[in-house]
Amino acid sequence: MTDYPTIPLDQYREYPVDEMRKRLEAFYADISRRRTVREFSERMVPRDIIETALKAANTAPSGANLQPWHFVVVTGSKTKKMIREAAEVEEQEFYEHRASPEWLAALEPLGTNKHKPFLETAPYLIAVFLQKYGRLADGRKVKHYYPVESTGLATGILITALHQAGLATLTHTPSPMKFLNEILGRPASERPFLLLVAGYPADDARVPDISRKSLDEYVSFVEE
Ligand SMILES: Cc1cc2nc3c(=O)[nH]c(=O)nc-3n(C[C@H](O)[C@H](O)[C@H](O)COP(=O)(O)O)c2cc1C
Repeated sequence: MTDYPTIPLDQYREYPVDEMRKRLEAFYADISRRRTVREFSERMVPRDIIETALKAANTAPSGANLQPWHFVVVTGSKTKKMIREAAEVEEQEFYEHRASPEWLAALEPLGTNKHKPFLETAPYLIAVFLQKYGRLADGRKVKHYYPVESTGLATGILITALHQAGLATLTHTPSPMKFLNEILGRPASERPFLLLVAGYPADDARVPDISRKSLDEYVSFVEE
């Protein structure tokens, strides 16, 4: 007996191992096709698609179940233009002064630069905010635990869900991103986590020719 309310785990499903393998291989094959896209089409995506992807993101585990995230979905051209202009100011500073030579060298294969036209062409900008603390109805503060880890997990699910829908994303982090609080009217208790650009890729979009590590480079097994 527990002294807190519980429900049966009736949503859980076990699969025979063969089916487990098949499902997972299909998922891996599909997620392997995900690429960060930097050239977007202006084609609109129905809002309910984005809402369902956000519902999927909200299933992420979070420290003490406090769900310390907030997503601002931007479709308006006036706001997108303001975001682009503010991001390009920061990015110019980054590429011309702030970035170390090592950082610039690491970015070279990606061909990124201070110009961010996708912030105006893509149909959706989803600004992800991390809440350092929440507020109770009476205004009292509630500390959030592991907000960075939790928001990272929610964002990962969001990217996966959008990919599942056949949409492309760009994880964008113009640094610093404080301008997002001002433009989007979010409180100082929320830290901009990243800006997710989402939509269809441009017809002629190209992506950097880069590779992923092999399993033995990033996984080790301990069997005793
Ligand atoms: C936290 C984070 C920040 C990133 N910031 C940027 C960014 O500001 N601009 C950009 O063009 N790509 C950015 N990226 C995308 C990475 O460059 C990209 O994921 C990486 O090159 C691997 O390519 P892939 O996503 O196509 O596998 C970011 C990715 C992550 C996870």
